[in-house]
Amino acid sequence: MEILSQRWYGALLKRRSRRLYAARLIPAEVFEKLTVACNEFRPFDTVRAVFTECSENVFKGIIGAYGKIRGAPFLIAFIGDTRDPYVKEKIGYTGEGIILEATALKLGTCWVGKSFDHVIASSFATTGEHEKVFAVTPIGYASAEASFEEKLLTGFGQTHKREPLARLVSGLQETEWPEWIKVSLLAARVAPSAVNRQPWRFLVESNSITVSVDNLNDSYGISKRLDCGIAMLHIETAAHVCEVVGKWEFLDPPEVARFISRS
Ligand SMILES: Cc1cc2nc3c(=O)[nH]c(=O)nc-3n(C[C@H](O)[C@H](O)[C@H](O)COP(=O)(O)O)c2cc1C
Repeated sequence: MEILSQRWYGALLKRRSRRLYAARLIPAEVFEKLTVACNEFRPFDTVRAVFTECSENVFKGIIGAYGKIRGAPFLIAFIGDTRDPYVKEKIGYTGEGIILEATALKLGTCWVGKSFDHVIASSFATTGEHEKVFAVTPIGYASAEASFEEKLLTGFGQTHKREPLARLVSGLQETEWPEWIKVSLLAARVAPSAVNRQPWRFLVESNSITVSVDNLNDSYGISKRLDCGIAMLHIETAAHVCEVVGKWEFLDPPEVARFISRS
């Protein structure tokens, strides 16, 4: 399965982390579409997604900035082979494609990289000898409106705020950016990241965007390279919407990867 560019671009502009879920059944055709995305959006052979029923105790209570996820009937576990040096960015990239498909299906999601029980998550999604569950997302219909608790958890909107591009980008002056670079960077900017830390930095050259981390300190015990993988999926989705195709080259820290346009 390829990136569904128009559909996922629309979704990436709307997606929000949701932590409270309603007791509402997922219709069979919606369930089936998400299952297909989990099974077929597999751009890397070292990363896979498992869509399964879950119990609430997989999500832990308050940890640092985070509260408990409540009422979700399903989860998707993002599983990777720990021997792959680029596994974290590949988890972010693959997982975000699936999260955007869930968003397009009007389902609620929330990347959870910290506040989940690894043992319980692994019992829902069996892992191989070299595999690990790097992150999960609850899946279900989010409660119609954010409750007071949810608003409290998101700092009454604070966690949705994003840095201006000027603070994130170096290289070519903005006035010289081709249209696809501008659209892609705006899409990367709204990507979710752990505790909304937005660790990505972007170097713009005439036909490429290089993604790096701001520093090598993986705060909160969640990899910044995973966050960057999410931004990579947003960049490529937006590039496709601008009819630009390209390829990713994985790089070593503090760089993460470079997208080079083939158009
Ligand atoms: C890799 C990653 C890990 C995350 N881990 C957690 C978590 O453990 N618990 C939680 O409640 N939210 C978690 N989040 C959600 C972020 O807090 C949220 O994406 C961020 O505040 C931006 O808000 P938004 O997703 O609504 O745009 C995580 C997000 C990412 C990308």
